[in-house]
Amino acid sequence: MKTEILSALYRTDGYVSGQELCEALSVSRTAVWKVINQLKEEGYVIESVPRKGYRILERPDCITAEEVAAHLPFAPGSWKVVYYETIDSTNNEAKRLAEAGELCNTLVLAGSQSGGRGRRGRAWVTPPGTAIAMSLLLHPQIAPEHASAVTLVMGLAVAMACRECLGIDARIKWPNDVVAEGRKICGILTEMSSEMDCIHYLVIGVGINANITEFPEELASTAVSLHTLTGKHIDRALLIAESVKRFAAYYETFLKTEDVSLMLEDYDAILAGKNEQVRVLEPGNEYSGTSRGINARGELLVEKADGTVVQVYAGEVSVRGVYGYT
Ligand code: BTN
Repeated sequence: MKTEILSALYRTDGYVSGQELCEALSVSRTAVWKVINQLKEEGYVIESVPRKGYRILERPDCITAEEVAAHLPFAPGSWKVVYYETIDSTNNEAKRLAEAGELCNTLVLAGSQSGGRGRRGRAWVTPPGTAIAMSLLLHPQIAPEHASAVTLVMGLAVAMACRECLGIDARIKWPNDVVAEGRKICGILTEMSSEMDCIHYLVIGVGINANITEFPEELASTAVSLHTLTGKHIDRALLIAESVKRFAAYYETFLKTEDVSLMLEDYDAILAGKNEQVRVLEPGNEYSGTSRGINARGELLVEKADGTVVQVYAGEVSVRGVYGYT
């Protein structure tokens, strides 16, 4: 009920009467009043004016399930949102939920991670209260070999949210990162459980440097936070909701064709290093060429000096050289 009350309050600029809330939610006035009090205890500043109703004046800087869900347009029950103040890794938790039988699309959020994981077995640091750590648990009924493109769908969604909501020139460093001013603002770790021709579940983990002010020395020159880029405090709950909203729209399109053909233009328009020199590092194979964007399968097209075009699959590859960090 907290989510419904919050979203009713966010939907209007003015006041929402207790009566409207009772009718919309089929609950008593006392029940509404109790939730309003709980919200106040959690740090929401809510004005209540006789004969007008309730109005939110201030929100706490939190990314609780209720706060994030209140900003999402999904029908109640169509997506689940869960929040942990601290967890080992939201990807791990999404996997645990899947293994325990969760079949609903689920957004797992955490205030901090004690064992956050990055790609290639690296650690991913999520300091409490300043970063965004989230994972989406999905059950796409698509061929397993098409699943890695969902990483691209997420990268596009986060980059577009940063561009449209924060005015940042966010770009995609194919295939897993979102960058701005040549430094990383977001990393994506996709994990899948599948057999032969069927996906059991897919977990898309997203780490966003939202309000982080200091990075460990080894990341200081390659990572940057949205706060540093904008000079403003980042509203994490809104950015999560805006990213997930965009992801859901692109993902629906993706599922129709099982490829990124219908979002190629959007993707290529913000692909970092397009038409620039890149160095491709595959296990046992290194070469240079010019990045020419992606194809419908989400492979990077790299044109070699002799004019041949290599379709680079996102697996174990690393593309370097022009993005300001490697
Ligand atoms: C990378 O750039 O190496 C990928 C980083 C992915 C980090 C996110 S944070 C939320 C989710 N939980 C994890 O343990 N990892 C991902």
